[in-house]
Amino acid sequence: MVKIITVFGTRPEAIKMCPLVLKLKEQTEIECVVCLTGQHKEMLYQVMAAFGVKEDYNLEIMKDRQTLTTITTSILEKIEPILKKEKPDIVLVHGDTTTSYAAALAAFYQQIPVGHVEAGLRTGDIYSPFPEEMNRLLTDRISTYYYAPTKMNADNLLREGITDNVFVTGNTVIDAFQYTVKDDYAFTDVALDSINYRLHKVIAVTAHRRENLGQPLTNICQAIKRLATEYLDCIFVYPVHLNPAVRETVFDILSEIDNVKLIDPIDVLDMHNLLARSYMVMTDSGGLQEEAPHFGKPVLVLRTETERPEAVEAGTVKVVGVDEETIYSEGKALLEDKDKYEQMAKAVNPYGDGHASEKIIESLIRSCRY
Ligand code: UD1
Ligand code: UDP
Repeated sequence: MVKIITVFGTRPEAIKMCPLVLKLKEQTEIECVVCLTGQHKEMLYQVMAAFGVKEDYNLEIMKDRQTLTTITTSILEKIEPILKKEKPDIVLVHGDTTTSYAAALAAFYQQIPVGHVEAGLRTGDIYSPFPEEMNRLLTDRISTYYYAPTKMNADNLLREGITDNVFVTGNTVIDAFQYTVKDDYAFTDVALDSINYRLHKVIAVTAHRRENLGQPLTNICQAIKRLATEYLDCIFVYPVHLNPAVRETVFDILSEIDNVKLIDPIDVLDMHNLLARSYMVMTDSGGLQEEAPHFGKPVLVLRTETERPEAVEAGTVKVVGVDEETIYSEGKALLEDKDKYEQMAKAVNPYGDGHASEKIIESLIRSCRY
């Protein structure tokens, strides 16, 4: 019997780890323990409920306006006794959050091999996204097993001299759609349920990144305000992240506009089905850059770089930066120029066939046998 502890703690990690956990739990030769760090609370529990996954441990570390230091130190302290008690063969972490890095470091301190799901993404700038680029670099340094979503990600690892145990698996986010997307879906969120998606162009908006707090987020909101007041037939749906530093700016600039729906974070079922029915996406999120292309929805990335160049190369995703005028004009172009829209609105999925979890499990079992 192989014992695996999966550790995750934020919304995006949960969305991408739950499909894997569900498949791990089906395996007779694997015991799968789920440990949440609780870096997020409500936004994490929404995902756990949507997938029906129950945790074995929750470190419950979240604090209001938490710092990177407290996230890291709380996880290191609280996970140690669990790792000592459970003595897993492998600790599986995901992506680039401070949860991922701290959990990998804690496993290293116990000399437990780490498997990194979504390994090998890079921007090449350690301050952008911050602190995610350094989190994933350090997590990859610590790890023994690498589950790279794409060949480009595997090549990034090779360039850093990481040659052993690198598996190209696809991204588990594509696996998640099996559980979330339905043609006849009825929205739980009242605001989403009340929209006539045939009548209006619906633009899904999210922004939360630490490096965008302050002026960049102000610019993003100002650009959306201009677009919304000019295009009254469009509805901008913005589920606002629970970070108070995000909410203050967003509500300050966008709350009085009728066709901007500022709503609380929606569960992943509502979110994926919203993407399927939307016209386009404006976001600084990593996950949405992978999800929206699957539905053939153009994405304007509200950042200066991306670690996910695959859909940019395919032409569905465009990195537009955080300057108000540029965001406004790129948004306007997609709302007015039909040809430009059609060029971007094509279903593209460089992230796998929806069987990433099975491929990860196959590699895991093989690694543990030999
Ligand atoms: C974290 C990750 C980021 C990821 C994002 C996904 C780090 C450093 N950052 O950033 O990589 O893109 O999650 O959303 O790991 N809050 C709540 N309830 C929640 C969640 C958050 O109230 O359920 C509030 C708290 O006040 C918290 C703040 O949001 O202190 C910020 O949360 P934090 O996890 O530190 O940063 P994120 O921006 O969410
Ligand atoms: N998402 C969600 N509800 C929301 C906003 C986003 O379920 O209100 C999902 C989205 O579909 C994607 C993930 O959350 O799967 C992205 O998370 P986030 O933007 O918080 O983090 P990132 O991907 O940037 O790390």
